[in-house]
Amino acid sequence: MTTNAIPKTNHAKLKSWVDEVASLCKPARIHWCDGSQAEADALLDEMIANGTGIKLNQEKRPGCYLFRSDTRDVARVEKSTFICSAKKEDAGPTNNWADPVEMRAKLKKLFDGAMAGRTLYVIPFSMGPVGSPLAQYGVEISDSPYVVVNMRIMARIGQPVLDALGEDGFFVPALHSVGAPLAPGAKDVAWPCNPESTHIVHFPEDRSIWSFGSGYGGNALLGKKCLALRIASVLARDEGWLAEHMLILGVESPNGEKTYVSAAFPSACGKTNFAMLIPPKELNGWKVTTIGDDIAWLKADPDARQLRAINPEAGFFGVAPGTSAKTNPNALASCSRDTIFTNVALTDDGDVWWEGLTDAPPAHLIDWKGNEWQPGQLDKDGKPVLAAHPNSRFTAPARNCPCIDKDWENPAGVPISAFVYGGRRMSEIPLVFQSISWNHGVYLGATLSSEQTAAAEGKVGSLRRDPMAMLPFCGYHMGDYFGHHIKIGKKISNPPKIFHVNWFRKSAEGKFLWPGFGDNARILKWIVERVKGIAAAKETPIGFVPSKEDITWDGLNFSQEQWDAVTAINRDTLRKQTEEQADFFATFGDRLPQEIADERTRLINTL
Ligand code: OXD
Ligand code: MN
Repeated sequence: MTTNAIPKTNHAKLKSWVDEVASLCKPARIHWCDGSQAEADALLDEMIANGTGIKLNQEKRPGCYLFRSDTRDVARVEKSTFICSAKKEDAGPTNNWADPVEMRAKLKKLFDGAMAGRTLYVIPFSMGPVGSPLAQYGVEISDSPYVVVNMRIMARIGQPVLDALGEDGFFVPALHSVGAPLAPGAKDVAWPCNPESTHIVHFPEDRSIWSFGSGYGGNALLGKKCLALRIASVLARDEGWLAEHMLILGVESPNGEKTYVSAAFPSACGKTNFAMLIPPKELNGWKVTTIGDDIAWLKADPDARQLRAINPEAGFFGVAPGTSAKTNPNALASCSRDTIFTNVALTDDGDVWWEGLTDAPPAHLIDWKGNEWQPGQLDKDGKPVLAAHPNSRFTAPARNCPCIDKDWENPAGVPISAFVYGGRRMSEIPLVFQSISWNHGVYLGATLSSEQTAAAEGKVGSLRRDPMAMLPFCGYHMGDYFGHHIKIGKKISNPPKIFHVNWFRKSAEGKFLWPGFGDNARILKWIVERVKGIAAAKETPIGFVPSKEDITWDGLNFSQEQWDAVTAINRDTLRKQTEEQADFFATFGDRLPQEIADERTRLINTL
């Protein structure tokens, strides 16, 4: 087995782990990643040469590449994702649990010889700026060069991380294989994977990750969902901080004052759009800057006054369809260079396209499956053939984003003044309201629900409860997780104010009642002014609600009737829905904090 230049590390535990994995997985070669541009270029060239990737038109998209996955490997697979805590009850009712001893034995078999004929890449990575007190280190071992070039965008990788680890620094070992060993002389496929045997496994007690069979980002870029949410949520519980599925944005008022907000929305509910929002020009001087679009790590500042947050990631793994110059010009600019596209369509001039990018599609494309495509094409059931997969993605460096906040890499993080929870709800849930207390806000997060999207496998459109948008990402018992939030609120003298929004309410005719996108800045402005104690609100059974005159309307004609429709609450329906939470709450048994049960009772009584 050959190894590239020995890296500069004296981390004995890391070296022996790499040896141990190599003797189990039996790769043809070992490559320690230094994270350099030259290394990425060489890997990309190799992948282009063997037909795995496509170099896009370098004049139009410098540094950009397109990959097409196996059609069976396009999203996170929740049914194959496991939390293997020692005790079943510690994984809780929302996670798949398997006995860690049995799972380890099963994984050892799956990984035995799994990297035959392939290169084993060692990817030291940092989630968060290297050296930040809020950062965590991991080392991913993967047999996928696609993973290496994506990890290089999504995290900080290579020698600086080894330097920070020193001789005995703590790191999360994260082992990944596409699960498709190559027999000697056999020709490789473009996207090797093993959908029948996919396992995404987390061992929370020893903080390790094993991922087998999938090359899709959410299953294979192990710094993201696996480390930064599932394992980090456990670290956060044990160490007294929060690892949340939240974007972080800054709101700058005309006098230059900055207020930071973090927000949780279930997958593909417009999180990236909200994180990069451009306020209407009529909101003179109000600006939004971006710290992160998916994950927030929050810790109390030294005098336990406020939470400070970092974005542990270094890039955006954004959903492409629907991203356009109208909906999110900042995301488009972010993927104008040095970006990896996956499962979007290819244009005749070597550029990319996806549904929603332009009003009219080009006359000819190669679709995400590599087939010829023309507008209006129907499949055998008469349904339109999509040019891009609905969960096609761009992996873009955060530094490309025109509205990136100047403090996005501040190792101390930024102070968070508000939490926003939101779901995709067609009816009943009003546009915006503020919780009356921290505990009430935790209750709002705990009861967050949304209509299912394409980011995970499952039936699109059905309503699913997604507490704090963490349902697929909490690495331990969700009841304890709610309790942890309650505790954090007690520990901090000035915790974030908590809000709930719903941009997706529809009329009886199925029309959206709120324009969304840039106009969400009007609501954000109210949120910031509430935090500062400037804006007015009415106290109602569900919390503090703005009146129409509390919102700034310059540049938008929005009638009182429209406002009433998007903010209306029907007490009877809401009471009924609150009563119906009983079954959901019952699943947490005695691990549901009394504070959360009390909030529900209080709401039923006031409604
Ligand atoms: C994501 C997700 O990819 O939440 O960010 O599914
Ligand atoms: Mn996400």
